[in-house]
Amino acid sequence: MSEMLRAPAEVKYADELDYLESVDTGPKPFSWRLSPRMVRLFVLGSERADGLEREIPQKWFGDRSFVERSIVTLASDRGLLLIGDPGTGKSWLAELLSAAICRNSTLVVQGTAGTTEDHIKYSWNVSMVIAKGQSRESMIPSPIMTAMEQGVVGRFEELTRSTSDVQDALISILSEKYVSIPELSDDNIVFAQPGFSIIATANSRDRGVNDLSSALKRRFNFVRIPVVTNKRSEAEIVRFRTEELLRRHRIELDVPPTLLDILLQSFADLRAAAASATSDDEKLESALSTAEQIGVLEDAILHSQFFGDRALRVETLASSLVGSLARRSPEDLAILNKYLHGVVEPRAKKNGEGWGGFLDGGRQAIASLS
Ligand SMILES: Nc1ncnc2c1ncn2[C@@H]1O[C@H](COP(=O)(O)OP(=O)(O)OP(=O)(O)O)[C@@H](O)[C@H]1O
Ligand SMILES: [Mg+2]
Repeated sequence: MSEMLRAPAEVKYADELDYLESVDTGPKPFSWRLSPRMVRLFVLGSERADGLEREIPQKWFGDRSFVERSIVTLASDRGLLLIGDPGTGKSWLAELLSAAICRNSTLVVQGTAGTTEDHIKYSWNVSMVIAKGQSRESMIPSPIMTAMEQGVVGRFEELTRSTSDVQDALISILSEKYVSIPELSDDNIVFAQPGFSIIATANSRDRGVNDLSSALKRRFNFVRIPVVTNKRSEAEIVRFRTEELLRRHRIELDVPPTLLDILLQSFADLRAAAASATSDDEKLESALSTAEQIGVLEDAILHSQFFGDRALRVETLASSLVGSLARRSPEDLAILNKYLHGVVEPRAKKNGEGWGGFLDGGRQAIASLS
């Protein structure tokens, strides 16, 4: 297979999925490619007790109960709605689940204010309609309709951003499980095959989930994904993503453990500060998610590869952190400045390893942005 900038999970983990399918003896709902237990194992990784010859690494980090509830929902009649702050891994979990269940995670509709009913039902190939008239051949099924026809998982990203017309169309798909095509006189209903289901994601910072109509809400099971605050899991997520980045760029580099600690600690500090802030002006605009943390480390790694002496320095990390988190000037800069003075400086004085360099790098970055 030729290289892709970013292969979908079913391609990237094809070996693993083949292997799991070959050893899977559990009962499978509908046309699922793996049993629910194997889907869970693919997402959360194997343990010794699973008795597999091959170790399956963990890919999504979070509470196992969320994964189990998601899998159960997908085997039921309802859609699955993953809700949470930006960067909590909702889309990634949706991709992994679809890849494991039906080896297709790419039937995706992106919800925006401009998403129309056509995007979730069907549209027409205009030149073919002119040449041959309206028929099944001149119809262009949406990814959701394709998922219905194939009995697989369709994905709907950022559900809450779409308008209520689109949401209404989704209600009928989820309850009737068919789409009719009134333009055609025969063969004008597309029925969902067994195995069809929908995974939607919604960002809790967007227009709220409360804006969804109650009819639509009833057709989804909600799974709320919290921001990971457990430092150990967070370290694992960051390490997992960073290794991938390094492989993709063919960079050989060791991320020093103290540097990773500093990154995790600084996010933990800033989250604590945000939690005790009394107004939005005292809070960074960023949700301080794990994804943001990964972004900070990625930028620092690339910066030191391209412009530095290759070794990853804590000063570079600090300036990447300031650069990504200071979105609003002057509010965010003031918050970061306060953090450096109030928390990092005393820590550096007590000679916490690496914090002195972090302080210097952070100060310089703030000075250059102010
Ligand atoms: N719990 C997690 N386990 C594994 N990877 C994670 C986790 N949380 C975040 N990530 C990583 O962070 C990146 C962003 O995650 P993702 O795009 O899935 O977030 P999201 O919740 O869909 O955010 P948004 O609401 O902004 O769409 C991904 O590369 C993902 O691998
Ligand atoms: Mg997403």
